[in-house]
Amino acid sequence: MTQNPAARLEKAFSAAIEGALGKSFAGTDPVIRAATKPTLGDFQCNAAMGLAKRVGQTPQALAELIIEHLNADDLIESTEIAGPGFINIHLRTDALADALIAIDSPALGVSPSDPSEVIVIDLCGVNVAKQMHVGHLRSTIIGDALARVLERVGHDVRRENHLGDWGLPIAMVLDRLHADGTALSSMSLSDLDEAYRRAQSAARGDEAGWKSGVAKHVGPHRLFELEAQNASANDVRTRAGELLVALQDGDSTLTEQWHQIIDVTLSAMYEALELMNIKMGSENNRGESFYRDKLVGVLEIFEQRNACREDDGAIVVDFDNRERPMLIRKSDGGYLYATTDLAAIRCRTQDTGASRCIYVVDARQRDHFRDVFDAAAQVGWDKNSSGQSVEFVHTPFGSVLGADKKPLKTRSGSNATLASLLYEAIARGTHEVQQRSNDPKSPTHELNEQELREIGQAVGIGAIKYADLSNDLSRDYVFDLDRMVSFEGDTGPYLQYANARIQSILRKAGSFDNAAPLCVDAFEERQLGLMLLRWNSVVHETARTLEPHRIAGYLRSVAETFNRFYQSCPILGAETDAIRVSRLRLAHLTGRILEDGLDILGIATPDRM
Ligand code: ARG
Repeated sequence: MTQNPAARLEKAFSAAIEGALGKSFAGTDPVIRAATKPTLGDFQCNAAMGLAKRVGQTPQALAELIIEHLNADDLIESTEIAGPGFINIHLRTDALADALIAIDSPALGVSPSDPSEVIVIDLCGVNVAKQMHVGHLRSTIIGDALARVLERVGHDVRRENHLGDWGLPIAMVLDRLHADGTALSSMSLSDLDEAYRRAQSAARGDEAGWKSGVAKHVGPHRLFELEAQNASANDVRTRAGELLVALQDGDSTLTEQWHQIIDVTLSAMYEALELMNIKMGSENNRGESFYRDKLVGVLEIFEQRNACREDDGAIVVDFDNRERPMLIRKSDGGYLYATTDLAAIRCRTQDTGASRCIYVVDARQRDHFRDVFDAAAQVGWDKNSSGQSVEFVHTPFGSVLGADKKPLKTRSGSNATLASLLYEAIARGTHEVQQRSNDPKSPTHELNEQELREIGQAVGIGAIKYADLSNDLSRDYVFDLDRMVSFEGDTGPYLQYANARIQSILRKAGSFDNAAPLCVDAFEERQLGLMLLRWNSVVHETARTLEPHRIAGYLRSVAETFNRFYQSCPILGAETDAIRVSRLRLAHLTGRILEDGLDILGIATPDRM
């Protein structure tokens, strides 16, 4: 009896179709959907229209036959045939109440995935010596939300931060810092960023080659490699190449300086992760440097399996369905961004045993990942250490745009720094919360400055995260803080506020019997109940499609359905005590689903706003 009504209807109608049409129709999809018009029923079965022709009947006659074979009196109150052959289904009120009681548990009806998989999520990927920019912000927010939803359904998720902390770019920054005589001990991230930029332009000898890289959208990291490869940037490149060799050989001064650069970059990154409430720390760092002694092994495997060839002194991998090969070793013996990604895939699939590897990296690196995934398959890394096939997924995302609809920039013309955006959002959120607390009727009126600031931070960060997760990920969106922190509209604070209101009702009610009978007689109670019962399937759909906007949209519907319920079904002022307690139970369940959903999106839920 604990099964969800939608799942039970599927079973019952599938059996009825088989009963009506015979064994050969066993397993037919009964096409059960939520009713399009809630006043006409709770669910509908749309199967008759598709099957009628095949069996030489009218859809209406077939619908009637299906109903005759239906055996679900304990679940279904009534059915009626409508329009071209829909079957409208009304659930029994007691069955609906039982189903709600069944999900009123710590798991909220969300069933664990079977089997549970090991899944690696590649997120963040900050580059050492550079400011974390909005692209890394999106990668981190989206990656963390995907990790949370996959964990929610019971997978073993490993968040890996593929830091850009090795290779020629780092050596060039070191070279720049040496040339400028910068004291490494007192460096700020801005000094480093500046050095990175200048190293970059010094290496940009061949404008034409660089422009074609830009035009091909190869992504910032690969672009840097291209820049560094330009013939006319020889001097810088030679010096940096020598530094890299010395660093690779373990030169102690260089190693110390390299660590200093990393520390400066990472402390800014940890600050941002902490502000954003991202479940990630140093234990998640697996940067490019981690793979530096594993690159030779990668090359050996490609050679052993005849999956690469020499091309003018370099080593490349070919693909059947495209002309352009992928470079995995340069003619000077140096390795590339792609080689490191192959080494990472080898670790993830052969050591960690992942059966899914998800890369949350901006859309410009699409071709790079296509190459890397296909090359990995050529040497068998599309099977993990237990022989399961591995699914590689690149989850590209769009750009964050400024008010001018161009990729977001700060006044100085560089990409907006992450911290500046976060602090600005927190300031706006705090302002909004403080304003509201001035009202003596507000539940935040008695709170002190510090408490208001904490709520303000939750609102500001919640606003940014929701804006990032509530649309199709591949879409660009405009970073408009005024809209994002508003308590009205399609925003994070709207949902946080909906939950805070429920919490304040529950506070006013005091304790109540959590095992009291549920009554869902009123239309709005039924609608709310049906909405809450969808939570399990929404979580699983999100985990399957990797589309967090499904949860965002669902939570919005929950909040709206709750508001309609609250307007027509008084809770604290209910007609009888039994109804009051039943409605409190529904409100409590609604609040917990909102909190669970917001938690999956990584959004905090203050209980007063
Ligand atoms: N550091 C890279 C960049 O900023 C992102 C790393 C993405 N992950 C990966 N496995 N390549 O472009």
